[in-house]
Amino acid sequence: MGDISVKVGSVNLKSPLILASGTCNFGRELAEFYDLSILGGISSKGLTIKPRAGNPGVRVAECDSGMLNSVGLQNPGVEYFIENDLDFMKNSGAAVIVNVAGHSYEDYIDMVKTLDPHKDKIDALEINLSCPNVKEGCMTIGSDPQAIKYITSELRKLTDLPLWIKLTPNVTDIKATALAAQAGGADAVVLINTLMGMRIDIRTRRPVLTNNTGGYSGPAVKPVAIRMVAECSQVLDIPIVGCGGIADYKDVLEFMIAGASAVEIGTACLVHPALPVDITADLEKYCSDNDLLLKDLTGTLQRW
Ligand code: FUM
Repeated sequence: MGDISVKVGSVNLKSPLILASGTCNFGRELAEFYDLSILGGISSKGLTIKPRAGNPGVRVAECDSGMLNSVGLQNPGVEYFIENDLDFMKNSGAAVIVNVAGHSYEDYIDMVKTLDPHKDKIDALEINLSCPNVKEGCMTIGSDPQAIKYITSELRKLTDLPLWIKLTPNVTDIKATALAAQAGGADAVVLINTLMGMRIDIRTRRPVLTNNTGGYSGPAVKPVAIRMVAECSQVLDIPIVGCGGIADYKDVLEFMIAGASAVEIGTACLVHPALPVDITADLEKYCSDNDLLLKDLTGTLQRW
């Protein structure tokens, strides 16, 4: 079978497939469907200093070709995670990516200070500057290149762990925010988090989601994500982790040709939890049939 191992900077992954933050909790529930060690990595649910109950009311809505979520960063808090979930992730055999969220610069700094002593169990910190469902922090910081550069450089001083900055597509110029992450000392960028959207109940004329808006994910966002990966690939020196609408092995290839070194998969696994098993086999077969190493596909886009 073909070689599908990849590298994201200094992080070696046995496969390009990483479970996207917020779509697998910490991977535990999925372990009953398949052996998680086939994965390149698992990205934890976005964690905060204090536990969060998340947003009230209706938090998900199906849409054509995708879904909206407005979970509001429900999570048990970073201390609980370290005590109860980090070892499970480490023992899964997949790389451990910890998604770090916050409402202020201080929150991100406290999170990294709290996680850094556990660096022997963590492969990378995914700094969430992109959740669209909270009023402060996250996407508010991640829409402003200066703020991205500032917080990335502050976090860079606190840890040697790879810093992957997860960016929002809800900006005019994704190159500007990606370059700001790079200038701040990021090791990689993750593109893209969800697109902000809304659905309306025509009977009540109210938004379906109690938070009014949510983040749109699923197959429909894939062309937007691919375009952003391709644009950023032309200007960045650091690697890109692609994310958005991946549902089969051909989607993975598209992202890698566009410039991604690895990919995250999420919404499709909510429909078919063991999908990474099929995609892994298909990628191995593709590499074997075409006599190539998967990592050599990254950035091979031939533009017109
Ligand atoms: O609402 C949420 O918890 C979403 C998080 C994210 O998009 O990172």
